[in-house]
Amino acid sequence: MKYLGLEDKVVLVTGGNRGIGAAIVNLLCQLGAQVAYTYRKDANAETTALGILADVTDPAAMAEVASKVEHKLGPIYGVVANAGITRDNLFPKLGIDDWDAVIETNLKGIYNTLKPIIPKMYERREGSVVCVSSISGERGNLGQVNYAASKAGAIGLIKSLALEAARYGVRANAVAPGFIETDMTQAIPEKIKEKIVAEIPLRRFGKPQEIAWPVAYLLSPIASSYITGAVLKVNGAHHT
Ligand SMILES: NC(=O)c1ccc[n+]([C@@H]2O[C@H](COP(=O)([O-])OP(=O)(O)OC[C@H]3O[C@@H](n4cnc5c(N)ncnc54)[C@H](O)[C@@H]3O)[C@@H](O)[C@H]2O)c1
Repeated sequence: MKYLGLEDKVVLVTGGNRGIGAAIVNLLCQLGAQVAYTYRKDANAETTALGILADVTDPAAMAEVASKVEHKLGPIYGVVANAGITRDNLFPKLGIDDWDAVIETNLKGIYNTLKPIIPKMYERREGSVVCVSSISGERGNLGQVNYAASKAGAIGLIKSLALEAARYGVRANAVAPGFIETDMTQAIPEKIKEKIVAEIPLRRFGKPQEIAWPVAYLLSPIASSYITGAVLKVNGAHHT
């Protein structure tokens, strides 16, 4: 399966031990990339990719991740900023700790991940960044003021970075998944899940692999070489 031009490209995926991140790691390995991923606990048992225990909210740890990956695998070509959390609540009950945790992880975590890597991509004049945003960041969602703000912020970050990075031959894009079957969505009560599925024209939640392929496409120096600053909706036509 080697046709996206990702063979031997070094790619770092944050939060690659489970869910969407694990599917991305596993697919990129099949596509011949040299993959490193970060995790907070429990490494990805399905892969031989380089796993590094690191918290995206810690800038020093993320700087160490970048140098470890470069030392062990070589110059980083691709970054997938995937790590993310939810702390849902309706606004009157949304505590400042839940606001801070979500913004720190989902938005500042992207800054911390990219900060040590982007200047080197500019020097090498190649690179592709893909950020995992969300349908919530595009249209908002009940109980997700914090999460939607972080995911909309990620879109603004990527669009601005794309403008700055273009002159260096570096691209930056986002995917905006709809509802995907992972631990994150397992917490949704069955009755609410049924209501959501009824609103999705494809009549089902997506699978992690169905996000991994669009991510691989956006990383690819062949398949998406003229795409930057884009937000790819991957949501079964949910509210599109
Ligand atoms: N599941 C969905 O329906 C859905 C929809 C849209 C967007 N997303 C986004 O996709 C991404 C992956 O979500 P998922 O559904 O696979 O969830 P998940 O909870 O299964 O995985 C989240 C991953 O992020 C990592 N992570 C969380 N906080 C971290 C931190 N501080 N430092 C390092 N890693 C951390 C976790 O270890 C885990 O690997 C997230 O950004 C999420 O917001 C998910």
